[in-house]
Amino acid sequence: MGLFNSLSQAVCLLSFATSLAGAQKAEGSAFTDATSQISFWNTKVASTGGYEFGIALPPDGSAKNDEYIGRLVGVIGAKGGWSGISHKGPMTNSLLLLAWADGDKVTTSFRWATEYSLPDPYGGNATLTEISHKVNATHFELVYQCQGCWNWEQDAETTASQDPATVDSLALGYAQGKQSPAPVTDVNGRISFHDNGFGIYTVDVANARQEGYEGFLGGSSSSPNSPSSGSSNSSSSSGSSGSSGSSGSSGSSQPQLVC
Ligand code: HEM
Repeated sequence: MGLFNSLSQAVCLLSFATSLAGAQKAEGSAFTDATSQISFWNTKVASTGGYEFGIALPPDGSAKNDEYIGRLVGVIGAKGGWSGISHKGPMTNSLLLLAWADGDKVTTSFRWATEYSLPDPYGGNATLTEISHKVNATHFELVYQCQGCWNWEQDAETTASQDPATVDSLALGYAQGKQSPAPVTDVNGRISFHDNGFGIYTVDVANARQEGYEGFLGGSSSSPNSPSSGSSNSSSSSGSSGSSGSSGSSGSSQPQLVC
């Protein structure tokens, strides 16, 4: 039994609003991934099949304020599917990140949208470095380092940001589509609409900060996983994992849903 099973049992729905002003503070809890030993502030969304996003930020005062470690869990249905986040909440003028399973790999793609239609490939300098991934018949999990992910530049005229150092609460968005991008192997493949849910929520920055952040990245011997080499704008993993399920520990309580 593992995380993936608990995902499919999710029955409560976060009450998301579609405007930032109405964004709900997400219920979440501390969660430590058993494989990577990375600790996150983890939020679940009760889409059909499930969605989870965990975030770990560097400690307060760190010079690394343009990055985080993320953990994204998405459902795989009959037509595959994708799961994504907006790094500022709304779909538009915010760095979008999608991930989907391609066989036993997890593929990622940074995108940018200026309107509510098919997002473009992102033109700025975000870098995703995979730390670990898992794929089974029903879900995928990706743990990654995201650098250059809070300050964005799509082109010279189009910039935006959300700086964790200057806000108490991060606004984030989630979106999930039931169909994999096509072709599934293409990081810039055509995205289908998010027909399995979308919305905005907030996370307290203080909850997401992790004193052990550097160690999670291999900066200390306590981390079993060293990040693979990253690539700008998008990255595709080719790991060997095909293991089913994921395990994790959240201490005495599992991540809580808002009912
Ligand atoms: C074909 C691609 C896409 C289309 C046509 C599309 C279209 C839309 C539309 C029409 C809405 C407003 C829905 C409403 O308020 O009822 C919306 C909202 C949203 N979308 Fe997308 N979307 C696409 C891809 C994405 C992707 C890839 C992401 C993130 C990775 C995303 C994230 C969001 C989020 C977070 C919202 C809710 C917040 C907001 O209203 O801005 N979308 N989208």
